[in-house]
Amino acid sequence: MIFLRYYIADSHFFHAAQNERMDRRGFSCVEEMNEYMLEKWNRKVRQNDDVIILGDFSFGNAEETSGLLKRLNGRLYLIQGNHDRFLSAGGMDISRFGWIRPYEELSDNKRRVILCHYPIMCYNGQYRRGENQEPKTYMLYGHVHDTQDQRLIEQFQEITRSTMAVNTQGEALPIPCNMINCFCMYSDYTPLTLDEWIVLDAGRRESKRRETAQDRTLSRTLQEGESKCSDEK
Ligand SMILES: [Fe+2]
Repeated sequence: MIFLRYYIADSHFFHAAQNERMDRRGFSCVEEMNEYMLEKWNRKVRQNDDVIILGDFSFGNAEETSGLLKRLNGRLYLIQGNHDRFLSAGGMDISRFGWIRPYEELSDNKRRVILCHYPIMCYNGQYRRGENQEPKTYMLYGHVHDTQDQRLIEQFQEITRSTMAVNTQGEALPIPCNMINCFCMYSDYTPLTLDEWIVLDAGRRESKRRETAQDRTLSRTLQEGESKCSDEK
């Protein structure tokens, strides 16, 4: 049987503010949010699958978080986030995690993943490509949720990917920039494999690009209409 490795960031179990402010997730209470995320997690992950959590896993105390950890499927690994306060709480049993680290680099199906809660714009192995120029390294991150900071990172990626660099063979190629925000709301709170995140991220950014293009066309049409009206006065 093949076991899979999944990734997910910023679930913020027990964090009521994710409903009231910040993400505005739309659950009526934190218990409903926790149960929804738990159900999504366990529907996908089997007991022997690996799940790498990219930080901000739980805002609960030691008792709450220990209870949650007993109910989640999978072999768990934690990249530490700034809201994982349960880690410093007295009485917390962290043996459920295979490891807890601030940063890690691992192999995943012949590719390399750079793992950190915080986005790294210039990451180790960024320029590595395969025989067919396919990307070999992905930087998986969390922290920024779906905020203006994420929009800025997306702009940075677009600029980087449209900038040419000359390699050691003298060829000019676009600079690779394969950063993926594994934000839990993007996957409806489901942990995903690297391949699933690559597909989801590309689709999400493409639909964002289309929305922006439509907005620009609409505002141009409105501006033209306004100037036509003022000409007619
Ligand atoms: Fe977070």
